[in-house]
Amino acid sequence: MSDETVHIKSYGCQMNKLDTALVTSALKKAGFSLTDSAKEADVVLINTCSVRDHAEQRVISHLGHLQHIKKSRPEMIVGVIGCMAQRLGVKLLEHNAVDIVCGPAQIPQIAKLVTKALQGKKETIAVTDKIRQKTDEDQAQALEDFESAYGIEDRYIPGQAYVRAMRGCDNFCTYCIVPFVRGPEVSRPPKAIIEQIKKLADAGVKQVTLLGQRVNAYKYKSGKKTWCLADLLRMASDVEGTEWIRFVTSYPSEEFFDEILQAMADLPKVCNYLHIPAQSGSDKILRAMNRHYTAGRYLAMLAKARAIVPDIAIAGDFIVGFPGETQADFEVTVDLVKKAQYKNCFIFKYSPRPGTNADKRLQDDIPLEVKKSRNIKLLAVQEKISEQLSAEFLDKEVTVLVEGLSKKPHLNDTEGGDKPQLIGRTATDYIVVFNGPLSLAGQFAKVKITKTSPLTLFGALI
Ligand code: 5AD
Ligand code: SF4
Repeated sequence: MSDETVHIKSYGCQMNKLDTALVTSALKKAGFSLTDSAKEADVVLINTCSVRDHAEQRVISHLGHLQHIKKSRPEMIVGVIGCMAQRLGVKLLEHNAVDIVCGPAQIPQIAKLVTKALQGKKETIAVTDKIRQKTDEDQAQALEDFESAYGIEDRYIPGQAYVRAMRGCDNFCTYCIVPFVRGPEVSRPPKAIIEQIKKLADAGVKQVTLLGQRVNAYKYKSGKKTWCLADLLRMASDVEGTEWIRFVTSYPSEEFFDEILQAMADLPKVCNYLHIPAQSGSDKILRAMNRHYTAGRYLAMLAKARAIVPDIAIAGDFIVGFPGETQADFEVTVDLVKKAQYKNCFIFKYSPRPGTNADKRLQDDIPLEVKKSRNIKLLAVQEKISEQLSAEFLDKEVTVLVEGLSKKPHLNDTEGGDKPQLIGRTATDYIVVFNGPLSLAGQFAKVKITKTSPLTLFGALI
């Protein structure tokens, strides 16, 4: 057992947040205690993202800061874990601040690596040069054990938990680093997933979010039976104590699409929310991205979703400035955003990722200024749509799952006197800010909406 302290900082997507929770749990089990202060910690771990260069630059600047702290505390151990660790591997150890490098497929080894580093041993790198090979049985079992062993106390948001449905990705969108850092697509056994959801429900978790890079492609075969995401949703719905079930992120594919939407329509616990990135509205760009659909088919999928689940809220992602994107390509993307009527969407400037097909074969030929102006233009188009959709909530009552204190103080924006300002989300993923007692965190609450803005609803607790 150890009495050293660990500070963990997490960048990136929900997968990474889940990995951070797993690592936190494993380190606590190994006897470490967690601290919020990087300055005082014996060990600082950074869970990193490689999806865009900007995400990596933030980590590099963070490492510079830690190097500075290490000048006065050379015994401090710094570990880089996650996607950037897998992408850069041994190169990261060349950074003066870095003692440990551990990729996403090796996180079950994290407590061992930290202990070794604290003992002054040098073999503190765990990444694989065979990331695209199916993991061997022992490693797969180690990941499974690590996944199911983590404790309820290590959640970020009270009453909520992420549960991995799938690891990795086999889609190879030409811009994307994920298949190279998270390895091949593997669906976890439904039994393991449902047992985990049961354990979480017993511990008071009300909402679970099933995670996968293409979670709607979930497919698990055993004997003659095959399970898809719709089966998982039905099984999860039967778990007593689980109240809301979400899943992210969906890939626009017709396979299983109707079944999943039907499960959403049939099962009251499954939240009517779909995050389904289009990335572009231009068929030429979609082809160059190796996305296997056209804008027309994508819009037909959204229409179907709305026909089967009338009050569904849909969110999207877009990349602007992909190589070869002309003004005309961009204009059809604007058209698609107008037609899609997203609740919100995330818009990114194309960032070439080393080793991906787009980086190897296509020149990053759209100037940064053009990427920026397209980003701003698309955001403005979406903001109008979000504003109109949000305005429909005015004077309505909504149920939210309360997350905790609102990080941005929107003081004076809600009524409620001296009570703190809380934030919650509706089943359709609308953010709601209202005043209420902090004891509501992790609980459901009813709020009457009194004011709306594009991305936030404001209201009063009923
Ligand atoms: N450049 C810009 N955005 C990217 N995304 C993924 N890879 C890149 C890249 N190389 C975006 C996509 C994806 C989201 C998670 O990040 O829109 O849906
Ligand atoms: Fe998540 Fe992808 Fe970033 Fe890895 S690279 S943390 S999988 S978004």
